[in-house]
Amino acid sequence: MPPILLATISSQQPPSSSMWVLGALVLLCWMAAFIGSAYSQRRRLRAPLILLATWLLSTLIWRSTVFSLAFRDWFELISCITIGLAAARVGWILVVDLLLREGERVGLSKIARDLLQSGLMLVVTIVAARTAGADPQALATTGGLVTAGLTFSLQQTLGDLVAGVLLSAKAPFKIGDWVGYDDSGRRVGRVVEINWRDTRLLTNDMVELIVPNSVLAKASILNFSQPVQDTRRIVSFDIGYHHPPHQVLEAARRAVTDGVDGVLQTPSLDVIVQGFEASSVRYAVRYFLADYRERDAVDSRVRVRLWYALRRAGIDFQFSHLDVRMLDTAPVDTDARAQNVEESLRSVDFLKQMDESDVTALAQAAIVRLFHRGETVVHAGETTTEMFIVTQGRCVVRTAEGRELAQLGVNEFFGEMALLTGEPRSATVCALEDTTLVTLDRETFRTVIARYPEKLERVSLVVAERQAAMDARKGADVTQKQKLEEQNTMLGRMRRFFAFE
Ligand code: CMP
Repeated sequence: MPPILLATISSQQPPSSSMWVLGALVLLCWMAAFIGSAYSQRRRLRAPLILLATWLLSTLIWRSTVFSLAFRDWFELISCITIGLAAARVGWILVVDLLLREGERVGLSKIARDLLQSGLMLVVTIVAARTAGADPQALATTGGLVTAGLTFSLQQTLGDLVAGVLLSAKAPFKIGDWVGYDDSGRRVGRVVEINWRDTRLLTNDMVELIVPNSVLAKASILNFSQPVQDTRRIVSFDIGYHHPPHQVLEAARRAVTDGVDGVLQTPSLDVIVQGFEASSVRYAVRYFLADYRERDAVDSRVRVRLWYALRRAGIDFQFSHLDVRMLDTAPVDTDARAQNVEESLRSVDFLKQMDESDVTALAQAAIVRLFHRGETVVHAGETTTEMFIVTQGRCVVRTAEGRELAQLGVNEFFGEMALLTGEPRSATVCALEDTTLVTLDRETFRTVIARYPEKLERVSLVVAERQAAMDARKGADVTQKQKLEEQNTMLGRMRRFFAFE
């Protein structure tokens, strides 16, 4: 206990009844604040309650005649200070936190609130000490000494405080922004709190990064949410030198322009050759992202799309030149694969008209393609001419406007109209799940059908019947006569397309 301060405390004043009234008032306000606070916010009422309890205890000791006067003087000081602080804190909670909604209504930042509150507490402590009869001059001297000591020992904290004030004045980021502050790009998080000492970032791993303001004041801050929310992402991939860049760029562009979840349409994305590496050409898809929190998931979706699209285009990713062989890996059973393809072709009604050897020939030329969930296989209006048979997964057929016409499962097929007539695609077909399709192209089909032009008639009948069934499913009333007309029209188109006329 500093003797200089002890000597200054007056020991004559008894506690007045107004002190009890003040205590009761503070308790009432505390109860009002308790009722008005949300459950999660009630923790802040703990400190004023402890102050009130301390006030009560110290006042009782102060009033008691059991103790010596000098001892009771100390409790008078404690009583005055604790009631003052309790009143200030409860008043602050009621007015600033509850009435002004954490100071938002008057635009008070957390740092400004903290500084104001600390100032208020200081003033209340001085006034309370004076009320208790402490000599203000002695208090100031002691306070000066304490301040000097504190300033010396709390240099770092004061540095943080000044940096915090500067940061909030310059506002390089605000609550909710995604911010990074080191070059590795690993220390990135959403700003959840800026206080007088530090700034708190919440990372995608739900880890709180507590960064001292003085560190942020010196760092180069990357703000991913300012000046606009959209952020560009770069997804790189390596392809061997033997693939011509225009083919890779085209295949990659097709893979991602179709609309990947989370990739913005505007500003539009692009695909570039990023560099010539030692053993591969590096390409990059550069796209804009709306929600920075989703960055890893969207990058992954872009990579998945690239994998499927490049694989279908016969373009392999380049990997290390190390030749690693997995000796116990089961060899691919090519015979079984060929048989599967043949079986899928036989499930197509109009191919049942072909000889077995023709179907085998078609199967040998057919290509197996994989599509990822959500990818578009054919677009309405485009002029490609392959036909597809679903061997795994599920597809959906939609009109150009997006109305669903049908869903196709295993052993069902689509694209036969374009294959047989060369007309633009009548609908858009997308993969609903990860899907495997056996693809038959027009040239392959042509070489087989060319051997049996008379079979075209039978094929056209089957296709016309399917068309009639589709129309009937749509609710149209298809007569026998219309079916025949449909078949004739189909036959004419097919003959012209395969140049048998
Ligand atoms: P094609 O026009 O080549 O390309 C789109 C394909 O969608 C089309 O061939 C048919 O195979 C298929 N298709 C069009 N309309 C329907 C429908 N109503 N029901 C089922 N499949 C359809």
